[in-house]
Amino acid sequence: MQDELRDHLITEEPYYQPTADEVELYEAAYSVRMPMMLKGPTGCGKTRFVEHMAWKLGKPLITVACNEDMTASDLVGRYLLDADGTRWQDGPLTRAARHGAICYLDEIVEARQDTTVVIHPLTDNRRVLPLEKKGEMVEAHPDFQVVISYNPGYQSLMKDLKESTKQRFGALDFNYPDHETEARIVAHEGGINEDMAGKLVSVAERARNLKGHGLDEGISTRMLVYAASLIANGVAPLAACRMALVRPITDDPDMRDALDSAVTTFF
Ligand SMILES: Nc1ncnc2c1ncn2[C@@H]1O[C@H](COP(=O)(O)OP(=O)(O)OP(=O)(O)O)[C@@H](O)[C@H]1O
Ligand SMILES: [Mg+2]
Repeated sequence: MQDELRDHLITEEPYYQPTADEVELYEAAYSVRMPMMLKGPTGCGKTRFVEHMAWKLGKPLITVACNEDMTASDLVGRYLLDADGTRWQDGPLTRAARHGAICYLDEIVEARQDTTVVIHPLTDNRRVLPLEKKGEMVEAHPDFQVVISYNPGYQSLMKDLKESTKQRFGALDFNYPDHETEARIVAHEGGINEDMAGKLVSVAERARNLKGHGLDEGISTRMLVYAASLIANGVAPLAACRMALVRPITDDPDMRDALDSAVTTFF
């Protein structure tokens, strides 16, 4: 790893509670530099997992939050005008490839397909990145790996990865952990005891059962951590649950009632 990426090294262990054999599988994938795709609902631990793995492998991590306005130049780089004329500036993907980082493209389906295809030559056996404007062919550093994430729930015909993109990746499914594991996570992250955290998880489990029956998405682990942090700061559990769990996910009065009553069942 070179000096350019020193700022991207994660020096303190990001807390990550494994839910199955994802740590071992990811290590195996990294050892052959297989591009990886992390699939799962919002707030279930995908980002935390990549941060943890980058730390564990001792590799720098460059994260790019993808959106539909993003262009290939935003990833690859562009010429900038400065006092001395024009100067090439590597984009995040080029920096990662050149110097050997894990490049994490978060919510990749948000990017347009003509942007996404720039990763193709880096994610097959060529492992190169052509910088057309600069006339340079960057050979990927041996440590370089691409990781992408997406939420299959948001998938639509308009917003999906090309088959030729998908088939360049290995994939790991992420989901909300089992009850005990999730309670441990919420207790740790939110600073409350596991008994209280378990009750929050039970509320979330009720809401997750309503997904597709009036709710687009269940209550995520992230939301539970928010609720837990409020409780740890002295907010009454009922109020904390309403504010952090129920109000954000639905405006429907009946659904709010149903979720509020789930909250009162446990608190
Ligand atoms: N397995 C886990 N170990 C430790 N913390 C976790 C785990 N799963 C979830 N969390 C907690 O949940 C929070 C949200 O997780 P994270 O940001 O990784 O979600 P995500 O899957 O990347 O969501 P999004 O798709 O919205 O980006 C984390 O900040 C962390 O507190
Ligand atoms: Mg994320």
